[in-house]
Amino acid sequence: MESPEIFRKEAHKIIDWIADYYSEIEKYPVKAGCKPGSIFSKIPENAPEKPTDMEQIFTDFEKIIMPGITHWQSPDFFAYFPANSSFPSILAEFLTSALGAQCMKWETSPAATELEEAVMIWLRKMTGLPNHFEGVIQDSGSTSTLCAILTARENADHFDVNDNGLSGKQAFRVYCSAEAHSSVEKATKIAGIGKNNLVKIGLDKEFRMRPDLLDLAIQQDIIKGMKPICVVAAIGTTGSTAIDPLDEIAEICRKYNLWLHIDAAFAGSALILPEYRWMIKGVEFADSIVFNPHKWLFTNFDCSAYFVKNSETLINTFKLIPEYLKTQIPEHVNDYSNWGIQLGRRFRALKLWFVIRSFGVTGLQEKLRTQIAIAGSLKTWIKNHPDFEIMAPVHFNLVCFRFHPSGINDADQLNNLNEKLLLALNNTGKLYISHTKLDGCYTLRMVTGQTHVTLTHVERAWKLIIEKSTTI
Ligand SMILES: Cc1ncc(COP(=O)(O)O)c(C=O)c1O
Repeated sequence: MESPEIFRKEAHKIIDWIADYYSEIEKYPVKAGCKPGSIFSKIPENAPEKPTDMEQIFTDFEKIIMPGITHWQSPDFFAYFPANSSFPSILAEFLTSALGAQCMKWETSPAATELEEAVMIWLRKMTGLPNHFEGVIQDSGSTSTLCAILTARENADHFDVNDNGLSGKQAFRVYCSAEAHSSVEKATKIAGIGKNNLVKIGLDKEFRMRPDLLDLAIQQDIIKGMKPICVVAAIGTTGSTAIDPLDEIAEICRKYNLWLHIDAAFAGSALILPEYRWMIKGVEFADSIVFNPHKWLFTNFDCSAYFVKNSETLINTFKLIPEYLKTQIPEHVNDYSNWGIQLGRRFRALKLWFVIRSFGVTGLQEKLRTQIAIAGSLKTWIKNHPDFEIMAPVHFNLVCFRFHPSGINDADQLNNLNEKLLLALNNTGKLYISHTKLDGCYTLRMVTGQTHVTLTHVERAWKLIIEKSTTI
């Protein structure tokens, strides 16, 4: 398909398909019900020698691919954290792929670099982060946290690991709460620090890191001759959106001169609401913070907003300019490939620009507040039902709960019951919820964070949960 005219014809068909998909999305089973290997077995073993026309490719997309899709954009999708999309974001993604620009350096696409600078300033202001933070868009929260831990490592060791490796050094120690996301552990593995040098700090009753235990762990490590380098505080843990006490953690980081990274991958979007700014008290002492507009700011995956207090330290950790990447452009422009791991970079700022402009800040705020209120209603229904209980504070739009019929108090029995309930619910295809374990208790998680979710969807889901709980 080389001619723009044929492309135009095919593209129009696909736009129509997308519009229909969103109109009818609720008719699909939310969670793909296919068996492992069933899609793979339908793909020919070898690539076609001759061209296939678009009509045939599209027929196969509908026949082979669609049955294997879990519908993350369905308003009945309540699992994990959302990867929510929106129409302005989709339109921007069309343009991004049409331009196909590779945005590794200023020169390779000046508009991409300068728009990234501008939208990250917008985001910084929208979220109330201090002016000294500078932002860069990474592909994911995991990558942002890896960048933070690598930078913390280099900062603590005068950039010597970059030059000479880790051999013969003191053990570096990183600290996070026992409920921190697995990406922190992954980052310590990749950074050569080792997962056994990640210290998981105990929690209080609301699943927050306990600063007293953090202080103690650091003291003990110093006595043992280890080198504490970094603390990762969570604003919105994955399990229950617990909010670590940042100001107290920041104080400890200052006392021991440690890098403070904040993982706010999901809940950071709530900072656009002034009533949530209390949770970043002490942020002025943080060295880096990440949150993902691709989770809860209606911007297609992937788009992770990573802010650093000192871009020079970040750049010194990653910068490499081989001959073939040298340009005549003076130093004062940003070459974002030096701000992280990837050399090649997508033009991600465009979709963020489209989304922020199309919704407007107040539109985004309204959407978040509506979703938080919907979660509040769900919480009330659960609390008022004698056979269900809330398992963690509801701060945003995640509700953690379990089925707890009267008379059943055995921990294993309750866990089995809730696991069965989750399976029964997801097998209906009418909704998709996920789970975690909080304090050893199997807990159902429902996030009312999908772009098009309404109270009606959540009411319908709650009715189904009650109905299924009587049949397991
Ligand atoms: C608190 C937290 N941090 C990090 C991540 C990882 O984010 P990403 O999928 O963008 O790597 C998640 C994902 O859910 C998360 O909840």
